[in-house]
Amino acid sequence: MPSTNLVLIRRRLLGWYENNRRDLPWRRTSDPYAIWISETMLQQTQVKTVLPYYQTFLKAFPTITELDRAPLQHVLRVWSGLGYYRRAENLKKSASELMRRHGGTMPRDYESLRALPGIGDYTAGAILSIAFQKAYPAVDSNARRVLGRLFNMAGAKQLRTAAEELISKSNPGDMNQAIMELGATICLPAEPLCLLCPLAAHCRVHSGSEASKKPASRKTLKLTNVTWPLAIIRRGEKILLRRRANRGLLAGMWELPGGEKPGNDGTLITLRRHLQEIGPLSVVPLGIGEIRHSITYRRIRAPIFLFDLTGTDTIELPASNWRWVAPAALNRYPASSMTLKAARVLASYEKSAC
Ligand code: ADE
Repeated sequence: MPSTNLVLIRRRLLGWYENNRRDLPWRRTSDPYAIWISETMLQQTQVKTVLPYYQTFLKAFPTITELDRAPLQHVLRVWSGLGYYRRAENLKKSASELMRRHGGTMPRDYESLRALPGIGDYTAGAILSIAFQKAYPAVDSNARRVLGRLFNMAGAKQLRTAAEELISKSNPGDMNQAIMELGATICLPAEPLCLLCPLAAHCRVHSGSEASKKPASRKTLKLTNVTWPLAIIRRGEKILLRRRANRGLLAGMWELPGGEKPGNDGTLITLRRHLQEIGPLSVVPLGIGEIRHSITYRRIRAPIFLFDLTGTDTIELPASNWRWVAPAALNRYPASSMTLKAARVLASYEKSAC
């Protein structure tokens, strides 16, 4: 890319960002800890979803010291509903490392940041550029799309080099955020708003020299459709929750019993298998609705079955990872998003049944 073009591109991007940036709470702070939390929450998660969690999290754990002192269960509870819970576990582990090795502050160098659990290339670059004004690129999926179209390239190395060149002679924090912001609001995946784009005149894909508005494609994640029946076992005002194992998908989260249906099994057979631990239930389940949800590569359809126990039905809870909980008290548990959604289905079923 000729350097005169780069100068123009930088100037246009920064000018556009200055006038069009969304007013987001993590853009009003220079606290490296708060920026780390926001960038971690924004991994695989949209801004509008992150907003309330960011404020609540920082209120609950305003500093690295307080995050380190908090029990993991408390952190998971505050994270509950945001998904990808490994992120919260890694924040806890990192807080402990930061207390032990860095005096409770965020390090200012790439190697130390990258050595922390959950901090990859992107997050290290975002913290260094936004909090410390250091010239590191932060290439997330939005930036990948913007740069991919602008320069019509797809390889990770090429994209990183292009980002490095762009940020090298400017305010790197603003430049990285400007690129990502353009991807989030103008250079959209399916229908980019090229008429509004400050870089249209420089864009290889827009200029018509390339046929498609899509950058040369990267491998896309293959989604698998999954059926995941859930049981709401209710006795009086309370429903039965189970805590997941400490390893693997949604580790340690509280959830409604149920699980992924193997290809050929029936939905209710799958559900009964997940309920085996608590013994046979004589009550006939009632289908009260279904929810849709995505976890990593799974696109889940979750039919919900209500088991309303009568006075004579008894259940011996097999272990402390099963618990009776009032739906109104679910927010005191780190509950999976599917469970929270299913509780809302129960609430609207109850309303319609009145
Ligand atoms: N996506 C993730 N972090 C971002 C940021 N700081 N600005 C714009 N988009 C982002």
